[in-house]
Amino acid sequence: MIQTLSAPAPAPLYVELARSLEHLIEQGTLRPGHRLPSVRRMALQRDVSISTVLQAYTLLENRGWIEARPQSGYYVRPRLPMDTPEPRMAKPMAKPSAVGVNDLAAEVLSLATDPRYVPFGAACPDPSLFPTKKLARILAAVGRNDPSLLGRYAMSLAYDPLAREIARRYLQAGCPLGHDELVVTTGCTEALNLSLRAVTKPGDTVAVETPAYFGFLETIQSLNLRVVEIPTGPRTGICLDATRDALANHDIKALMVMPSFSNPLGSNMPDANKEKLYRILAEFDTPVIEDDIYGDLHFGERRPKPLKAWDTDGRVLLCSSFGKTLAPALRVGWCAPGRYLERVRRLKFTNTLGTPVVLQKTVSDFLRNGGFDHHLRSIRRAYHHQLHLFSQAILRYFPEGTRLSRPEGGFVLWVELPAGVDTLRLHREALKHHITTAPGALFSVKDRYKSCLRMNCGVPWTDAIEAAVRTLGELAKKQL
Ligand SMILES: Cc1ncc(COP(=O)(O)O)c(C=O)c1O
Repeated sequence: MIQTLSAPAPAPLYVELARSLEHLIEQGTLRPGHRLPSVRRMALQRDVSISTVLQAYTLLENRGWIEARPQSGYYVRPRLPMDTPEPRMAKPMAKPSAVGVNDLAAEVLSLATDPRYVPFGAACPDPSLFPTKKLARILAAVGRNDPSLLGRYAMSLAYDPLAREIARRYLQAGCPLGHDELVVTTGCTEALNLSLRAVTKPGDTVAVETPAYFGFLETIQSLNLRVVEIPTGPRTGICLDATRDALANHDIKALMVMPSFSNPLGSNMPDANKEKLYRILAEFDTPVIEDDIYGDLHFGERRPKPLKAWDTDGRVLLCSSFGKTLAPALRVGWCAPGRYLERVRRLKFTNTLGTPVVLQKTVSDFLRNGGFDHHLRSIRRAYHHQLHLFSQAILRYFPEGTRLSRPEGGFVLWVELPAGVDTLRLHREALKHHITTAPGALFSVKDRYKSCLRMNCGVPWTDAIEAAVRTLGELAKKQL
């Protein structure tokens, strides 16, 4: 069937107006408590009809940006209260533990793309946020211009122009890296898997942050490793003292860590902490697997420097991909394994031989000509805005006493509900309403996060999404 690709229709005027006012609020030009111009005056100022302003104000009101005060007008609503309590940090673990089999992760992932479900479970941005049409055109052109690419194996570590582009971007982020230090992988998942295999053997112990990305725990389990969980704060990331203690008390073969916008906490380690962490790891001669997949999704001015920027002796195996920024389906990731380059290269060879050049070249051509930085700016804005709307709605609809992370990047929220709420039960109940969630049980090998939940905020905010957040809140309140 031939499908015609039509340009997206321009947004209605009232949506445009609402967006521009949101921008003024975000920038602080319009502050909490400020009265907006009256409907009539705004119509005159912006040269639009009164009904357009009314629709825009209603939209902003529905989205929680402004509130109508009877006989007074529209006012900018207070932002998230600065004293919104944040999730609490877990306690250190006494001894290493095996990772139990858990079918929950597979269930959450399999429902992620089922259109019948509201996707709060897996950390997947909505496909509308990716430049899929442009990528599809580039992919077609790559095949058309050089069909022989489909007839050859990918035998090298990386498609050279792609590796150079990735290295150039790291240099801009303050992390000089040679393009020949990179192995292109099938997503970040393969990069993590190869890195872990390069520095451990079955039965070894590795350390992870807690709460940990469940993909870490699944990979650790599949390689028959044991795990020590290290307390991690919602703001500044892994606790340095606890890391030192863990390395001193256990025979830890590697640390897996997400210094920039961790999943699920969204924490972002300050540079000074990264430097100290690196020194601790050097002191105990421990390799570190750094997952940097959310590093480009910062809301502040600057991209955080990866821990790899401090790596003077090649102990950091930096892993990432374009899965959260450009195209999850192309499965193009990479690993900069430092002194383990040769081992990772050989493991890649035995694992999947090479990552298809057609896919690498598609990404490379997009990076070089497709306006990647412009696209990144737009998704960062979208994620930031969505996190804000989700946070407001969670505070409005979830039980009193709910704690919430405040990420400065990425698109997931970590929510700690009052102790009486069991999020595994909540997950089951929510499925009956066609809502998927990621219960706390997924993020630890211990029963630490019974009342916690990770929310995927990568879905654009609509009335249906708000209704689903409200439903989750009501189901949680029923448990109390
Ligand atoms: C922290 C983290 N690392 C890695 C991955 C997997 O990345 P990829 O899709 O590139 O394999 C994800 C996906 O959710 C993730 O959240």
